[in-house]
This record gives sequence, C-alpha cells and structure tokens, in this order.
Amino acid sequence: MSPTYVVALGGSLLRPEEEEHRQTWFGQLRQLGVHMEGIGAHLGLVVGGGLPAREGINLAKPFVADERALDEIGIAATRINATIIQQILLDIGIDVASTIPHDCNSAADLLKNHSIVVMGGTVPGHTTDAVAVEFATTAKASQCIIATNVSHVFDKDPRTNDDAEAKTNLTLSELGEICGVGTPLEAGANAVVDPIAVARAIEANLTLAVLDGRNLSLLDAALDGKEFTGTLIVPEAKKPL
Ligand code: UTP
Repeated sequence: MSPTYVVALGGSLLRPEEEEHRQTWFGQLRQLGVHMEGIGAHLGLVVGGGLPAREGINLAKPFVADERALDEIGIAATRINATIIQQILLDIGIDVASTIPHDCNSAADLLKNHSIVVMGGTVPGHTTDAVAVEFATTAKASQCIIATNVSHVFDKDPRTNDDAEAKTNLTLSELGEICGVGTPLEAGANAVVDPIAVARAIEANLTLAVLDGRNLSLLDAALDGKEFTGTLIVPEAKKPL
C-alpha cells in the first residue's frame, strides 16, 4: 500500500517577513510535492488561516457576537491559503486535487486518486490542527504532522517563561496536560496544538509530530521516518520504556 501522510501547515508559514525566505519556502514545498509524487505517496495538506484569519476575525469582532460566525471568517481565510498552496503546486504539474474539499471524508476520497490534496477548515468550533487529525484518521495515515512556527512543544509558554523546556518526546496525555483536552479555543486564538485536536488524537490513538515548518527539511525528515528536530507525541501504549 502506498504511504499516506497528513500535515497541518500553519497559516503563518505562508508569509515569512522577507520575500527571499518566501521564495525558498515555496520552492522547498514544491520539491517536497515532487518527492511525494515520485515515491507514490499520498499527502494531505491542511492549511491554516494565519494573518488573513486573524485580520478578518479582528475586523468583524466588534460587530459580530456569535463566535461561530467569527469562525466562518477564519475558515474562509484557511481556504484562501489552501488555494494559494494548491495553485503553487499545480503550476509545476504535480498531481494535486483541483478542488478544496470542505470535509474530511471528501478529502480522504480525493486522496485515494491524487498525490496531494490541499484543504483548509471544515466547520466552526476547532482549528485546522483538529481538521488535520480527523483527515489523518479518516485517510488511515500513520501519524499527523503539525508544522508550525515554533521548534517544539514546550512545557510552558516560552514567550512568557524563560525557563520553559522544549520537549522532544511526549505521550498524548502529557500533551493534553500542556495544551488542554477538548476545550475549544476562541475564534482566532492560538495554542501550540488545538485542544480539540489533542482530544481527537487521543480518541484515535494517533501519533503526532510537532515541528518548525519554516525549515521544510525538518518536515522532509519526519515524512521519511528519520529523526527530526521537534516533538514526537505518541499514544501511551507506544511510549518507549
Ligand atoms: P487556523 O487553523 O488557522 O488556526 O484557524 P490557528 O491556530 O490560528 O492556525 P495558524 O496560526 O493559521 O497556523 C483560524 C481560525 O479559523 C476558524 C477558527 O476560528 C480558528 O481560530 N476555524 C478554522 C474553524 O472554525 N474551523 C476550522 O475547521 C478551521
């Protein structure tokens, strides 16, 4: 059976400050797409909303009381970003699904027939991390990789704690103690891993990897099953003794 991978790509990754870094990043993403197609793998990419999500939600917030309505703005932004990635990969002739699926069953069906499927959000109440976990479970991927803009999961917020410790190995319940389990974030709010995604991974016994997606060679290594710099999060049963 050809290998199936699902990766959550944080929306912030699409907009590095400097244009030079953007060029390098999109170039590496294309190389990764070509490599995946070359080895006959299937890759699901779930793209976050990043800056347009945050801007859109903040713009509407004073006028929109319903949290789920604000989530819809975030979802629209994720689909813009997903379309950007999809078109950049299609442009060099990679076999990418030409639609952006709106649910994980459709995404998993498309992935059977394409090397790459790119999607954004689905419904209100969670972030694209949770979508990626659901997509990975539905498509029977062996793990879900969360490529974001921090190097690791830390035991506490490194922005406010100088003594925060980077974790290289965690179990899903240890991740739950750090990020919370199952409590939805506010629209546009940030956490290293969405607590809804953690709850879904626990339910599905799914291995997660968190790594810095600004350096796509780390993602390459994780996809190839090599050691990578980042945090590997395994179900309790797979914890090394
Ligand atoms: P993101 O998945 O982009 O959240 O969704 P994020 O944690 O900010 O990720 P980055 O920074 O892009 O990596 C942005 C917002 O869109 C809504 C939520 O309001 C979320 O905060 N959203 C997204 C949903 O309601 N449902 C979805 O399936 C996806």
